[in-house]
Amino acid sequence: MRHACRSNGRTGKVMYLVTGGCGFIGSHLCAALRARGDQVRVLDDLSTGSEENLAPGVDLVRGNVADPVAVRAAMEGVNGCFHLAAIASVERGVREWLNTHQANLCGTIGILEEAARARGRIPVVYASSAAVYGDCDALPLTEDAPTWPLSAYGADKLGCELHARVAGVVHQVPSIGLRFFNVFGPRQDPRSPYSGVISIFCDRLSRGEPVTIFGDGGQTRDFVFVADVVIAMMAAMGQASTAAPVLNVCTGRPTSVRELAAVVANLCSTRLEVRQQPPRSGEIRHSLGSPSLAQAKLGLPSPEGLSTGLAQVVAWLRAGRPGLAPASQSANQPADRRSDYQPAYQ
Ligand SMILES: NC(=O)c1ccc[n+]([C@@H]2O[C@H](COP(=O)([O-])OP(=O)(O)OC[C@H]3O[C@@H](n4cnc5c(N)ncnc54)[C@H](O)[C@@H]3O)[C@@H](O)[C@H]2O)c1
Repeated sequence: MRHACRSNGRTGKVMYLVTGGCGFIGSHLCAALRARGDQVRVLDDLSTGSEENLAPGVDLVRGNVADPVAVRAAMEGVNGCFHLAAIASVERGVREWLNTHQANLCGTIGILEEAARARGRIPVVYASSAAVYGDCDALPLTEDAPTWPLSAYGADKLGCELHARVAGVVHQVPSIGLRFFNVFGPRQDPRSPYSGVISIFCDRLSRGEPVTIFGDGGQTRDFVFVADVVIAMMAAMGQASTAAPVLNVCTGRPTSVRELAAVVANLCSTRLEVRQQPPRSGEIRHSLGSPSLAQAKLGLPSPEGLSTGLAQVVAWLRAGRPGLAPASQSANQPADRRSDYQPAYQ
């Protein structure tokens, strides 16, 4: 059974909760929801996100998604929940196994439990990950490919999908999981050790610095621009159902790391200097998803071309990374800096 979102009776407007809304992907989603005229509440503990990322008019509840009291307060009166809060780092899952599990899986169960408690049930769109596939070599990966995660992070994301299914069968909670591949775009913090290769390359090359490539650079990834991820999430809300479907969010286009470095160097008008390091053990050689099912079910447009998205990241870096203040400087940032940069979908 699919879910149709009704407006909030008091204001006539639709109100969404976005968990993790101060982070990279969540902040773009909040901006797009606000631009559409929706009311937006964010639940975020600001552990990796920043208040500076939030669009004007978004209501921030500071709290932990693994805390049922915080979740209950944040879910009060909402028409739907976009659940993105997570410790989005494979590496932290290695060092802090139980801690990341509490945020990544227990946090999701808490959201689903609260969604079940509401009269009429609250539909949940949640972030899963290509990490659920592990090193599956049946490329491009379709949603029915075997799931065999190789990390605690991937195992917890698969756990989210299984619990979403239970929420649908046992508690009639409508949901939909989106398996994001390698998302990139403005506000992805290149200073973070968990940041994607794109934001690191853009950061280094825009300053004319050399980049490090592990192995021969022939490893490929499916890089999807954040604006396309936002479009998919917004379309997915109308497709949340008690069957708890999961869909890939990807482009179906492979890009090698070496090719990526060359495109970014070209955009930055700088000479590419590569420092080669030995291959990283356990690194997956190729990752490529099939976007066909999501395109058919969600009616998505063709994804943005890589260089168009990259040009926006470089422009954002050159503008001084508006909307992404270092935690130590947040309090001193002028409040209107976030308006310097307009995401492409606005
Ligand atoms: N970026 C990618 O390429 C990618 C790929 C696959 C899946 N995902 C998933 O998409 C979602 C968003 O990722 P992102 O790249 O925007 O990461 P991000 O780190 O920029 O955003 C995560 C947000 O969640 C918040 N958060 C973390 N733990 C929390 C907790 N316990 N309680 C409340 N808030 C908490 C952080 O402060 C941050 O604002 C995550 O669920 C991530 O696993 C991202």
